[in-house]
Amino acid sequence: MQKGNGLKIYLKMVMKLRFLLLLILSLVVNSGTVFGSIKDEKGIQIIAHRGASADAPEHTMAAYELAVNLGADYLEIDLGMTKDGHLIAIHDDTIDRTTNGKARVHSLTLSEIKQLDAGSWFNNKFPEKASPAYIGLPIPTVEEVFNHFGDSVNYYIEIKKPDEYPGMTDKLLHALSTHHLIGNKAHQGKVIIESFHSESLKYIHKKYPNLLLIQLGFSSKRMNLSKIASYANGVGPEFTTLDKEFIENAHKHDLLVHCWTVDNAVDIRKMIDLGVDGIFTNKVDQVKFGVWLTP
Ligand code: G3P
Ligand code: CA
Repeated sequence: MQKGNGLKIYLKMVMKLRFLLLLILSLVVNSGTVFGSIKDEKGIQIIAHRGASADAPEHTMAAYELAVNLGADYLEIDLGMTKDGHLIAIHDDTIDRTTNGKARVHSLTLSEIKQLDAGSWFNNKFPEKASPAYIGLPIPTVEEVFNHFGDSVNYYIEIKKPDEYPGMTDKLLHALSTHHLIGNKAHQGKVIIESFHSESLKYIHKKYPNLLLIQLGFSSKRMNLSKIASYANGVGPEFTTLDKEFIENAHKHDLLVHCWTVDNAVDIRKMIDLGVDGIFTNKVDQVKFGVWLTP
């Protein structure tokens, strides 16, 4: 047997085993069996950062489905907007890293976006996690995500670059309202909106005072909690900048603390011990189960 063929067979076996493990985990999560979860024990919200993005191509339906199956509490969606005004799920302001194309998101129409392959890059970058099912996956529109999951999941949506995408905030509010995910008929907490841009959050707060809002920040040290508490329900700092004093202070201001982005079991345990209320993670299964492995 040639060396290359042997490697391919080995990788296929690893892939099959990995999927089997994830399947078993998801069955356990959804059947409510003997395993506990951090959420059950501590009330910590598990926010699937770009979906279950360590195990499937970020911001594809595959990553969102996996996150749901693994028991995430929220699907995190970063917003971009096409040239013809459609909201899509994408993190970067270009398509270069996560598709087979090269362009700025706002320079493409939806029909051009829909021709892109948003899955193969993942297979190439992570051969040990690759799946044929990821090849050719499209970038989803926000409308497609809402149509697919409806109100069966909770959404955690980031308004990115509102200056580059004028009208994005109103389009999002309109889509959420049309799908009854916000407004009188919706459960509070079904949707959380996050942003680094305080002006966008203040604008939303005026229109929908009951909609949960999280002020993101690169450092907890630069967050003015009194000001934030006047328009938001929580803060989302980068996790390494957190300490107990900040979290206690945030709680005194009635602010939740949702930290990003924590994948390592030791860091997860540290954040839980510090008292955070939610964790953004690429590794939903790690947060759900991994911490039990650490002393
Ligand atoms: O949304 C919270 C955190 O994810 C912010 O970072 O760049 O991954 O959107 P980013
Ligand atoms: Ca984000």
